[in-house]
Amino acid sequence: MCGIVGYVGPRDATEFLVMGLHRLEYRGYDSAGVATLSPAGHFSVVKTAGRIAELEHLLAENPAPGRIGIGHTRWATHGKPSDENAHPHMGGNEELAVVHNGVIENFHAIKQRLVAEGYVFHSATDSEVIAHLIDSCLKRQQGIAEPSSTNHQPLVSAVQAALAQLQGTYGLAVLFRRWPDVLICARLGSPLILGVGNGEHFIASDASPLAGFTDKIIYLADHELAVVTANSVRVIHRDQGFVNHSIQLLDVHEGDVGKGGFEHFMLKEIFEQPEAIQNVLRGRLDRDAATAKLGGFNLTPQQLRNANRIIMTGCGTSWHAGLVGEYQIEALARLPVEVEYASELRYRNPPLDNHTLVFAITQSGETADTLAALREMKRKGCPTLGICNVVGSTIAQETDGGFYLRAGPEIGVASTKAFTSQCTLLAMLALYFGRLRHLSFTAGMKIIEELQQLSDKVREALECSNHVREIANKYAGCDNFLYLGRQFNFPTALEGALKLKEISYIHAEGYPAAEMKHGPIALVDEHTPSVFLVPHGPTYDKVLSNLQEIKARGGPVIAVVGNGDTEAARLADEVIEVPAVEEYLQPIVTVIPLQLLAYHIAVARGCDVDKPRNLAKSVTVE
Ligand code: M6R
Repeated sequence: MCGIVGYVGPRDATEFLVMGLHRLEYRGYDSAGVATLSPAGHFSVVKTAGRIAELEHLLAENPAPGRIGIGHTRWATHGKPSDENAHPHMGGNEELAVVHNGVIENFHAIKQRLVAEGYVFHSATDSEVIAHLIDSCLKRQQGIAEPSSTNHQPLVSAVQAALAQLQGTYGLAVLFRRWPDVLICARLGSPLILGVGNGEHFIASDASPLAGFTDKIIYLADHELAVVTANSVRVIHRDQGFVNHSIQLLDVHEGDVGKGGFEHFMLKEIFEQPEAIQNVLRGRLDRDAATAKLGGFNLTPQQLRNANRIIMTGCGTSWHAGLVGEYQIEALARLPVEVEYASELRYRNPPLDNHTLVFAITQSGETADTLAALREMKRKGCPTLGICNVVGSTIAQETDGGFYLRAGPEIGVASTKAFTSQCTLLAMLALYFGRLRHLSFTAGMKIIEELQQLSDKVREALECSNHVREIANKYAGCDNFLYLGRQFNFPTALEGALKLKEISYIHAEGYPAAEMKHGPIALVDEHTPSVFLVPHGPTYDKVLSNLQEIKARGGPVIAVVGNGDTEAARLADEVIEVPAVEEYLQPIVTVIPLQLLAYHIAVARGCDVDKPRNLAKSVTVE
């Protein structure tokens, strides 16, 4: 949560900072700010509650000149969104400026100490303590009477001394009044990437701001600190001292981080799903062996064959994908799977052995609970694998092995293409484990053929968008929705309900369709629509009975049915047809109308689809 940018080089720094903040706005958007520094050491700080657009208005009136600067877009944790709580925060007597992403757990104790030292605080944030603490450490340094543009050691020592006192997580960048040529940044638990340009350097909390500026990047690791000038980068590890940083190639292009003619990122990403599915499958189906070719396990075939249990963990939509994976792997590979909320798993103590494989499912690869659960499982000796979208993310780096989704940047806060890509990858895992066990060559080939048709089926499902918009306009005024499905479509029901509530602020519940009789049916009335998932399959008749139970109580029914269905269509008030696919792939197709329904309802209600209230894309706090 929160986005950080930094720049040092020949350009006007705010040019990159503001553009970068726009691209990072999905990480948090309740306030924003920049600080730049002139060569003579004069700070310009402009910050405000609200969106980046408001910051831009302020900057038009009060420009912040300078060729070095830092910027921040905030998702509030400590202190409400306000001008004072917006970053950057100044340390000492405007000696330095800090932007911070993360949470400082012991900020209160440090603050008391600093107040006793005479520091005056202007915000309610935990981040302001970092600024004053670095200043306090800097003052304690010996032999820094004259700042020198070549000797940054006093700054490094001061920042290191301050960081050593912090408990919690940080990705941060610091600008020093008396050293106007250098930026210092550091990370522990919150991502930070350096972009290497020609006589310039960029800092960002993810890769999206760097696209179009440079394709050379350095991932900062936990406990690393970087000293960045226009012409140099030095990376120092807390324990190892100077480290040789490797420069990697950025695979995100400018077009990937724009809306591409769509009104919202979410809609663009919904329509990118056929291509995303092709990308996740590309090169990973082995027709010769009738299996999936998944090269990222980093485990021996024996270890894989000996695996007797899988634990999947994640949060939100990624947790829903895990549930789909549970059904898929049990059905195709006959392997026991448990799916755990990462926030629960991290504090549980489940019996484990080294035949249990743990999969962390995450779009961002930065979700704090998923990361903590993963570390806990690793500590207990389980092989850990990541299913991540963001390349080079913390979870991708910390797992023993794993697989990238290759879905491209997902910027809309509501996850869409990551979900269908995750479910597709999990179907491949089910095929892979199935073929290691009992699945025949013929059965494996049939699955491969079904997977190869999936992208076209999703493209066909997307054709319902206009029809779904009409349905959305009709029901956009309702205050409650139920989403009901069974078996493979129970997680889809959960996902549909989550999509609706997060972007339209309508209360929605997802339930197994038959479980609805055990309580939620009390909610049914003529103002509470039930969205039923009734594609053809073994439970089709059962779900139809559940649908009739709702109709008998006067509840409107929106049914997602297989192409050509007449029975469900006869009973439902609204019908959305999707192409038929095998049961284990149904969630990937039936979720499409649910994403579109949530989207069109949110638009009809005038909601900010890509930046829903209170939310942020990556949840990097516990
Ligand atoms: O990046 P992750 O997949 O780990 O994120 C997990 C959840 O925070 C995320 O799926 C969230 O629930 C989305 N806003 C759902 O649309």
